Amino acid sequence: MKHTKKVFIVYHSGYGHTKVQAEAVLAGASSVDGVEAELIDAKEAASNLDHIDEADAIVFGSPTYMGTISAEFKAFMDASSAKWMQQSWKNKIAGGFTNSSSQVGDKTGTLQALSVFAAQHGMVWVGLDLPPGNNSSEGSDDNLNRMGASLGAMAQSLADKGPDVTPPDADQQTARYYGERIAKAAIRWAA
Ligand SMILES: Cc1cc2nc3c(=O)[nH]c(=O)nc-3n(C[C@H](O)[C@H](O)[C@H](O)COP(=O)(O)O)c2cc1C
Repeated sequence: MKHTKKVFIVYHSGYGHTKVQAEAVLAGASSVDGVEAELIDAKEAASNLDHIDEADAIVFGSPTYMGTISAEFKAFMDASSAKWMQQSWKNKIAGGFTNSSSQVGDKTGTLQALSVFAAQHGMVWVGLDLPPGNNSSEGSDDNLNRMGASLGAMAQSLADKGPDVTPPDADQQTARYYGERIAKAAIRWAA
């Protein structure tokens, strides 16, 4: 019997919106046969780095704060330098997602920070292969990948609404699709 692949989603969410996105990535990854997925808060991950070693794939998620990752997510990144020394996460599949309140909001800066981080660990980054949505006269805000990202999954949450309302379903479905893609990539990469 084939070994089950583990997909860990390591995320930070200050106010719950990025957590909704993280849960959608989890649902997508868990839907793939032969994959077990787990949601891990960045603070918890930083204090138990040995557990992260068990992953075949790690998806990193952070809200965009001031055009980049949050301080809380950066604390996890810095703590992970112990694993960088040993290159323990080398050749694991990696991916990233972010959420912010503005349509652009400089979210690309966050995904770039996450992808460089993964590269430092020698990980294999998997982008989002969905075509950009809502970019033509036929498009709408209900389209998957309405943010038009390729490096990873993006979501946009209304600044004055709670995580029970926003990010919208299109962004949650985009995150779900991305989780599925990462899980399938983990299976293919380790075959
Ligand atoms: C300190 C701080 C900085 C922020 N910077 C940005 C930003 O650069 N771009 C943006 O679009 N939204 C920005 N926001 C809004 C958040 O990205 C947005 O509220 C997001 O949904 C928060 O996710 P969370 O609930 O998971 O923390 C910022 C919010 C905070 C608290």
